[in-house]
Amino acid sequence: MDRPSDSSTDLLLLLAGAKGAIGTTLAAAVAAMQENPKLVLPGLTTADKFHFLGDCPSVAMAGWDLSADDIIGALSRHGVLPEGMWQPYASRLMQIPFFNSPDAALCVADQVNQLQADIQRCRERYPDARPVMINLLPATRDIADPTRFATVDQLLGEPGAGTLPDLAYAIAAIDAGIPVVNFTPNTVELPAICNLASTKGVPIAGRDGKTGQTYFKVVLASALKARGLYVDGWYSLNILGNADGLNLMDPDHACGKLNNKTHLLDDILGYPVGERHGQSTHKVHIDYFPPRGDAKEAWDVIDITGIFGMPMSLRLNLQGRDSILAAPMALDLARWAAALHTAGIAGPVPELGFFFKKPVGGHAPLTFEGQLAALDDLESRIASHMNGDGDTQTCAVSKRH
Ligand SMILES: NC(=O)c1ccc[n+]([C@@H]2O[C@H](COP(=O)([O-])OP(=O)(O)OC[C@H]3O[C@@H](n4cnc5c(N)ncnc54)[C@H](O)[C@@H]3O)[C@@H](O)[C@H]2O)c1
Repeated sequence: MDRPSDSSTDLLLLLAGAKGAIGTTLAAAVAAMQENPKLVLPGLTTADKFHFLGDCPSVAMAGWDLSADDIIGALSRHGVLPEGMWQPYASRLMQIPFFNSPDAALCVADQVNQLQADIQRCRERYPDARPVMINLLPATRDIADPTRFATVDQLLGEPGAGTLPDLAYAIAAIDAGIPVVNFTPNTVELPAICNLASTKGVPIAGRDGKTGQTYFKVVLASALKARGLYVDGWYSLNILGNADGLNLMDPDHACGKLNNKTHLLDDILGYPVGERHGQSTHKVHIDYFPPRGDAKEAWDVIDITGIFGMPMSLRLNLQGRDSILAAPMALDLARWAAALHTAGIAGPVPELGFFFKKPVGGHAPLTFEGQLAALDDLESRIASHMNGDGDTQTCAVSKRH
């Protein structure tokens, strides 16, 4: 990190879990954008938004990971992109600063101190950039009794092993005035953390990126509801062979993700799917299947009925790529978070529900059309704050923090 400062960067991505499949794909995308923007920009939904944030390609990245691999080793290990795709940017990739993740044996306060020292070094290197923390840690077991942590001080005193590792990253960022995007299914948005975000004037967005099967589930469920077609059952199967898939074979680790994937269907439709069978007929399965690596496949069988209860059925087969779908969303979310922060909009942001399986905050829009409308409204709010029409007390956040 002993390098001259770079004042040409507008946005700084700070990644927790930076050497994972999504983190390394994002690193390759950030590097490619500098030289060949057309490889990435068409895949961003914010490329034509938020011009006050500067150019999309003027992004830098830094991050933390447990892994001792260098970035090239991590890219090769995940195999998301063939080597020929990232090799032209290898020297840029090698310049990304990586830090060691805090020791889980430290109490949360000591972890936060270590992370904030690293954040300060990033700020010195990129003095003009707007930083955003993006949580890409592995899915993990939820905190047994989150009500124990009514205040941030209670969290800070806890041994790290007694909490989610994610919480130290969230507290370090928010306390340093940096917005947080939680892409994982882990419950980072405890009331104490959301309150800290509101107090510090930073937005917090999450949780659980809605990248593939669940994205299309929301679209289809919204369309079926709009036509008055009744959903009698919905069977969803996923196979994937990346580290996330392996990790999700632990039932405790998969629990949050499966809940997030399952609950939203009943919420969109407004009735419990399976009510006439006396049990839920919305089933979601995830299976680790090593041959596929990151090239995930998902099947949906959707049984519906029309008038007179006449049965019909629909099949969806998605042959996706987990990290290719996720990385541009993480970048889009960083741009939303930086724009919200600049406009002085703080705390949990349910209006970003378009991007998440389990949107934080109350009254998150449920249907696809509701989620698109909420994004439009949020963009208008940002524009009116930037034009000086918003609440002047929460609008005073400047680019330099
Ligand atoms: N890919 C998708 O479509 C998608 C969709 C929704 C949610 N997610 C979630 O996004 C997260 C990241 O996914 P991924 O595929 O990159 O996972 P991954 O397992 O490839 O990467 C996780 C990284 O975190 C690192 N790590 C573990 N503990 C750490 C710690 N304490 N501090 C710093 N680093 C640590 C690991 O070494 C690894 O490099 C997961 O929680 C996943 O469930 C992914």
